Amino acid sequence: MKNQKIIELINISKFYPGNEKPGINNVSLNIQRGEILVLVGSSGSGKTTLLKMLNRLEEPTSGAILINGKDIKSYNVNELRRGFFGYVFQKIGLFPHMTVKENIEIVLRLDNKPIIFREKKVRELLDFMRLSPNVYGNRYINQLSGGEQQRVGVARALATDSECLLMDEPFGALDAVTRCELQDEILRLKENLKKTIIFVTHDISEAFKLGDRIGVMQNGNIEQLGTKEQLCEFPKTPFVEQLMRTGFRT
Ligand SMILES: Nc1ncnc2c1ncn2[C@@H]1O[C@H](COP(=O)(O)OP(=O)(O)OP(=O)(O)O)[C@@H](O)[C@H]1O
Ligand SMILES: [Mg+2]
Repeated sequence: MKNQKIIELINISKFYPGNEKPGINNVSLNIQRGEILVLVGSSGSGKTTLLKMLNRLEEPTSGAILINGKDIKSYNVNELRRGFFGYVFQKIGLFPHMTVKENIEIVLRLDNKPIIFREKKVRELLDFMRLSPNVYGNRYINQLSGGEQQRVGVARALATDSECLLMDEPFGALDAVTRCELQDEILRLKENLKKTIIFVTHDISEAFKLGDRIGVMQNGNIEQLGTKEQLCEFPKTPFVEQLMRTGFRT
């Protein structure tokens, strides 16, 4: 089951109107079923753009993306966004005027799931993310801590039983302890639910902990892709070498 390609990017470039420099510059990449692929890179290096092209929130200017061997354009967009991919945004994107339950349920409503199914599923997801449904279900989003909000964001991304999760800095701005707990949840998700996860972070220790492979992005390119050991022992560029040694903080 491992080593089976689930997503393939072939010579993908993305130019945004008015920008001379490409957001993504001729990237080719295979993502294996069941792996956690972590993308790290400076601000503006193209990480969010790459994720957005996968569920067609952005279209590449050139190149092709295949999912299970089929061109992404041959899939129905809604099917892709709600069926195949779950997406946790860089900014959490929960609806403040809705309760925790409603925030998760809305995804299931869009799929016309019956109410009994929806209620059961919401409880399961909250339990899975270790948020007691009785305590948290009816609270509004601003009545939650940052870490609890992030958990709701992940629960919502899981609601549609998608095969693949796209997570764009989902734990930004959290304290180290909460972050560590949520990283453990992600590893649990991978083990228990066998998800394929593409995870963006600025935190090198998070990349090392979660990534089966790590892709280092710079100026719209993937400078190097490999395991933690490969990147640390055989960095291909000075940028990768420095990043592995010191992270982004120097
Ligand atoms: N909608 C847009 N229109 C024009 N340019 C854009 C747009 N979105 C992103 N860009 C540009 O494309 C490049 C890549 O942006 P992207 O958001 O993918 O970076 P990122 O690696 O996610 O950065 P960060 O770590 O800050 O989130 C940047 O130069 C950015 O300014
Ligand atoms: Mg980004």
